[in-house]
Amino acid sequence: MTADLATLDLDAEILRLKQERNAVLLAHYYQDGELQDLADFVGDSLQLAQAAKRTEAEVILFAGVYFMAETAKIVNPDRVVVVPDLDAGCSLADGCPADRFRTWRARHPDAVAVSYINCSAAVKAESDIICTSSNAVRVVESIPRDRQVLFAPDRNLGRYVAQRTRRDLLLWPGSCVVHERFSLQRLTALEHQHPKAKVIAHPECEAPILERADFIGSTAALLDYVASSSAEAFVVLTESGILHEMRKRAPAKTLIPGPPNGHCACSECEYMRLNTPEKVYLALRDLAPTVELDQVLQERARVPMERMLALG
Ligand code: 13P
Ligand code: SF4
Repeated sequence: MTADLATLDLDAEILRLKQERNAVLLAHYYQDGELQDLADFVGDSLQLAQAAKRTEAEVILFAGVYFMAETAKIVNPDRVVVVPDLDAGCSLADGCPADRFRTWRARHPDAVAVSYINCSAAVKAESDIICTSSNAVRVVESIPRDRQVLFAPDRNLGRYVAQRTRRDLLLWPGSCVVHERFSLQRLTALEHQHPKAKVIAHPECEAPILERADFIGSTAALLDYVASSSAEAFVVLTESGILHEMRKRAPAKTLIPGPPNGHCACSECEYMRLNTPEKVYLALRDLAPTVELDQVLQERARVPMERMLALG
């Protein structure tokens, strides 16, 4: 932090700049609690895409990872979309380059390509329809059963959707570096320690972890489950940023972070952690860095996004 930043009341400055710039701050549940508390809207990736589409603010400041900000630009191209840190990527998006995706698609010309929102605008542009973790089952069910479905880039979510829909999906071999790290051995130990705790997991987790889960859902669904369940303790197998909102919604419940391999107590997405209040302040002050997309690509990527949003 530079000297003048160190003396600023960042929270107050962010609030002031948001008004001055007519900006809305959108944050994902995986952001640090401090950033979530500064946001105008906090949500999962579907809710954030919907919020980006309906906002009338001139500037969308997106505290999440890059594909989320890019998605905001796709669904609301007239807005200025700024991010705190352009390096906040995602292992799923990085593991599915558009040229390789195009070649894969071309090998299955009659198939319908469903892409998880955790992919680049270039991959979205090559897809028939987008899904998020909260609507992936519904999106696949909207496709006639006699059509072959390609699912990219998360093979764990894809496998889960294949099971739920009883369909044979062709899966891209990608995974999330955070959700593939949960340790079955350490989870077993926790289950013995807390026999009454419900195990809840994001569908990006590996199959052996999902098999242990009492409930599987997107970040928003996991939050609703904890708030409405009569259980008193939960082992939470997703990125630990979610615990901030979970504690607010269920203050009396015991929340146990799902254990990753190694010795860490909880799982953090290193990309999400790149965003800080200092960088949010600078992004608002300078209106930079912005998300810029090629016009043609943006329009092509909008079509499969709108198909998903039309499903509700
Ligand atoms: P959600 O769809 O639950 O927001 O998940 C986004 C994500 O990046 C999970 O790792
Ligand atoms: Fe991507 Fe995983 Fe981070 Fe979600 S938690 S943004 S899928 S790397």
